Amino acid sequence: MKLPHTKYYLVLALTSCFYACMETSHSGVYQKLLESDLSPLESGKAKFLYGDMGGIFPHTLKTNAFVYKITVLALKEADSSLPDKPAPSLFAKYGFAFPKKVWNWEKAPLPGDDKPTGLIFGKISGTHPTKGKYYFEVADFGCGSCHGSLLYGKDGNPTGQYALGMPNASLNLDAFAHDVFKGYRIIIQWSNKMFEQRMLALYPEIPKQEMAGLKIVFHSMKKQVKKIIETRGVVASYKIGGPGMVNGIGAIKSGLGMLDNSVYNKSEVSLVNIPALAGRSYRSSLLVSGNYTPLNNDFFYEISSKDTNYQHDQEMAVIISLFTIGTMGYNAEMAKKSIPDIKKVMDFLSKLETPPFPGTINVEKSEKGRVVFQRDCQSCHGKYEGTPLRNALASFPNKFIPVTEIKTDSVRCMALTGDNIKKLHKIYLGKYVDARVNKGYVAPILSGLWATAPYLHNGSVPTIWHLMHPESRPGKFYCGGHGLDYEKLGIRGEMRDGIYKYPEGYRPFSDYEIYDTKETGLSNSGHAEQFEQLTEQEKDYLLEFLKTL
Ligand code: HEC
Ligand code: HEC
Repeated sequence: MKLPHTKYYLVLALTSCFYACMETSHSGVYQKLLESDLSPLESGKAKFLYGDMGGIFPHTLKTNAFVYKITVLALKEADSSLPDKPAPSLFAKYGFAFPKKVWNWEKAPLPGDDKPTGLIFGKISGTHPTKGKYYFEVADFGCGSCHGSLLYGKDGNPTGQYALGMPNASLNLDAFAHDVFKGYRIIIQWSNKMFEQRMLALYPEIPKQEMAGLKIVFHSMKKQVKKIIETRGVVASYKIGGPGMVNGIGAIKSGLGMLDNSVYNKSEVSLVNIPALAGRSYRSSLLVSGNYTPLNNDFFYEISSKDTNYQHDQEMAVIISLFTIGTMGYNAEMAKKSIPDIKKVMDFLSKLETPPFPGTINVEKSEKGRVVFQRDCQSCHGKYEGTPLRNALASFPNKFIPVTEIKTDSVRCMALTGDNIKKLHKIYLGKYVDARVNKGYVAPILSGLWATAPYLHNGSVPTIWHLMHPESRPGKFYCGGHGLDYEKLGIRGEMRDGIYKYPEGYRPFSDYEIYDTKETGLSNSGHAEQFEQLTEQEKDYLLEFLKTL
């Protein structure tokens, strides 16, 4: 989980009186969903896509949430080459999705008004002592912003559909947050009058009470932004992420006061690729290093389909509630309040399936690949059962491998320290959740693998073919807005000038970045020995089988 957290990501250092006079309400779409007659499954989906998990504002205005229209204005100022149109052009470049349909929720309403899918919205309203009645619209990062993705089609390009639970490998919250802040730096130089004029140029129909609200925010953001400029100078106190990656550990440390937020902490770079969420009922603990488990539970033990159960899912929800501190900018108290909603989300996640591979599968090869998988991979990655075309997880060992053995990048598994855990215990854990430092990684569930490139916990390898050929893994590659290659299985590209770039003529649907495996935390080493003994033919068969998961 991630995020452009930061005490001051935004904007409002308001007085307590001001808070007291504020009321928050859900966005129209979410309110309608809450009032309609939803099955438990749909209710879980609704919370996943639109839920504020018990009420986000106003605390989050000091952390992750943002005042939507001011952000649009800031993004526009940060890039003057963009057309005078609020969205989607402004948001799509950061990988936010604007789908036409949700693949695994036929009846899902979409946010409308050109708003990106995955953000959650709410309205804050109140009466100001001198300015009278006001309101403004706020947005925050819902589960769907990271854990929802455009679905790729037969040709390896994205379709107009969106899959809940699949990772958004193009979402670049780092670029987003930095550009918003760049815009803020410009905006705060403006007079009130100029602010109003610019806002009206963007949104000519803006009602008076909303303009009043935006002006109140504008006033207080000036102070707040100046304070950040004078102290750490950048939007967050740690590295936020890159395409498809976020710094969940950095975010949670910052949110719980374990980082000095007045400076930029350059060693906080533990970026993790957003995971696919299918099969979570098979996990005995959560996160790439298996750091959290329900209280009185072992961290690592095998779970087969007959062992999965409602109670375990509900206990997992309690762990996930802790993540809202990093991803949504909650404080510990709000995170606890999010538990009932996240339990509903688990009703959905426990039934979640990954989208089937849209290309063609060579059945003969995949069946031969199954044999290789059972021989060399299953003991760590779990048992899959099904047909030559599609296989589902039947049992998962939750196998933890020390980093000295798997030899992948060690930054993430070392990022959480014993001191952090102690502090977490004081603030949050203890009653329901157990946590510990684990110096290594859990062999992940591989379901949906065809759509989740790049690979490894830090997203350092662009395709499965490269993973299987460690000597050929590129030191640098493009990521973000990519197409998929179904032969190599992963990001579509070719080596040019020593960089694995998109094919000539390909137009990415969002801005890309060059992933540099020389940077701290982004090494592409490790998980090599597991492929050493395989022949080229076996690798070919295995790759075909992996498409069926
Ligand atoms: C800002 C992006 C972001 C948002 C928003 C977000 N997550 Fe995550 N989530 C992540 C990342 C990244 C990880 C992996 C972190 C790690 O393992 O260190 C993760 C991990 C998880 C896991 C554990 C997966 C595993 O097997 O270890 C679950 C479950 C999960 N998220 C559910 C949710 C839910 C439910 C929401 C909404 C309340 C949510 N996330 C919001 C980015 C996000
Ligand atoms: C000794 C246990 C072990 C064995 C055997 C093993 N793996 Fe892994 N695998 C891991 C671990 C641990 C990770 C996570 C490493 C990381 O992300 O740093 C991993 C990660 C992966 C990933 C990346 C998944 C993702 O979502 O990014 C793939 C793909 C993978 N393994 C495929 C295979 C295949 C195919 C085989 C059989 C040839 C295999 N593994 C054998 C332990 C193992």
